[in-house]
Amino acid sequence: MPPSPPMTEAGALAALKGLVGWWSDSGIEVDIPPAPPPALRKAAPERRTAPAAARSAPAAPEVPAQDGRAMARSATSIVALKAAVESFDGCELKRTARNMVFARGNPDAPLMVIGEGPGQDEDREGLPFVGKAGQMLDRMLAAIGHGEDNTYITNVVFWRPPGNRKPSSDEIELCRPFVERHIALARPKLILLAGGVSTEALLGRNDGITAIRGQWSEVRVEGHSAPALPIFHPAFLLRRPQEKAKAWADLLMLAERLEELG
Ligand code: URA
Repeated sequence: MPPSPPMTEAGALAALKGLVGWWSDSGIEVDIPPAPPPALRKAAPERRTAPAAARSAPAAPEVPAQDGRAMARSATSIVALKAAVESFDGCELKRTARNMVFARGNPDAPLMVIGEGPGQDEDREGLPFVGKAGQMLDRMLAAIGHGEDNTYITNVVFWRPPGNRKPSSDEIELCRPFVERHIALARPKLILLAGGVSTEALLGRNDGITAIRGQWSEVRVEGHSAPALPIFHPAFLLRRPQEKAKAWADLLMLAERLEELG
């Protein structure tokens, strides 16, 4: 058999992606740690014996890194923003995810819910909060009269972190321009921050969701400002049902404020 050609980086990533998807379908969770940001990645070792033609050829022009902030800024509608996120290759999470997960619900809704990031079910369906935690979130919102027609749901990263780990701060920063533009374009009256990750990403507070839940803050992006309420993540409530009473109190506060805002 002739020796197989060496695998390229793209080929290796495609193979890894297929493998992770297959494992996940079999119920096996795979924990792949976050990749270092591009600037910290080791340069590929130099080839020592380049053919003469290659040695004298001019170096191939480097593909410029995409400017996520410029891409996000140039989107003037939510549809255009979704297309911009689809074409953004700067976040490593995209490489192992099956689908980009943008949003579900009504973009004109007064309430925007922002969670941590897609899980396995969301990755498969391309929609946020459709797994067990999502069903829990839907029940919580329904209890205060909110469904898909008057709620808009998204996350702080658009691709599933492998093995359902938390998104790294680099991954959150790479998605941030799109998340902020998303809020600026949707212009919600209120923002519900589901869990500590989106709370830290959007309020810059890392004192823990237990300390900060139920306290109103303000999210300000691109001239749009909206009151924001951090609550326990529905996945946490599934694990710790004894905390549901606190989440219920927070939801009642949210409903009251929404009513005041009309
Ligand atoms: N958890 C999240 O934070 N977001 C989802 O979309 C699903 C689960």
